[in-house]
Amino acid sequence: FTVIDPDEGFLACGTTGKGRLGSIDLIEEIILDAIYALEKERDLAGKTVLITAGPTEEPIDPVRSITNKSSGKMGYALARVARRRGATVHLVSGPVKIDVPQGVAFYPVSTALEMQAQVEKLYRDADVTIMAAAVADYRVKEIAKEKIKKDSETLTLELIKNPDILASLGEHKNGFLVGFAAETENLTENALSKLKKKNLDMIVANNVAVEGSGFGSDTNIVTIVTENESLELAKMSKDSLADIIIDHIIKNGGTE
Ligand code: C5P
Repeated sequence: FTVIDPDEGFLACGTTGKGRLGSIDLIEEIILDAIYALEKERDLAGKTVLITAGPTEEPIDPVRSITNKSSGKMGYALARVARRRGATVHLVSGPVKIDVPQGVAFYPVSTALEMQAQVEKLYRDADVTIMAAAVADYRVKEIAKEKIKKDSETLTLELIKNPDILASLGEHKNGFLVGFAAETENLTENALSKLKKKNLDMIVANNVAVEGSGFGSDTNIVTIVTENESLELAKMSKDSLADIIIDHIIKNGGTE
């Protein structure tokens, strides 16, 4: 048996208290967790998985920022699946509109520099690190202290390069390191060259120019690239893909 307690809040009888149906997300997660326990035998038990997700948000002034269209769905799917498969999961996330998955350690961040600082604190303890976040490549050099006025006809912002978090992890490699690559052409070649340049064990490349793939979508079309193999996968839900990515991490020795 698993008993899911009722929730607290406003009740149909007009009073407030404990007695209403638990959240559907929680019920779904508990059912899936039980299914995974039976079918996958918790093959990540005892392992720590560090995952980044979502966009970063780089401030311009106190009310404006530069960000991107990453929804965080892929990273959050990986976090949920890794936890169901028994891992201790650390999820470092930029600002997204998805509920925090049950049972994961959650570290909300905003900028690329905050993401880097948080990831570096957690990296040493991770057996597997999966960088699904869409980190901003540049940030505004001088963040205005006051809201910028619309006095001039043109406005120029000077941007400076953000650190490549993934590449810096690759420089002091620890455990199995997985990157993502959003490409619009020469998918496998570009992914393989990134794999080598950033010293990764695996890269999940998606063609963001194709419908049903990449930012915001519930589905993804990816090619999983390792040094010796390039595996083109059909379009599927990000939840199903998360399972396959983890299968491949295990197959490639990521949990040994
Ligand atoms: O080089 P590119 O940005 O295409 O690489 C994408 C991969 O690198 C993703 O895994 C992303 O999370 C990571 N990345 C990063 N820091 C950056 C840019 C990208 O960790 N500044």
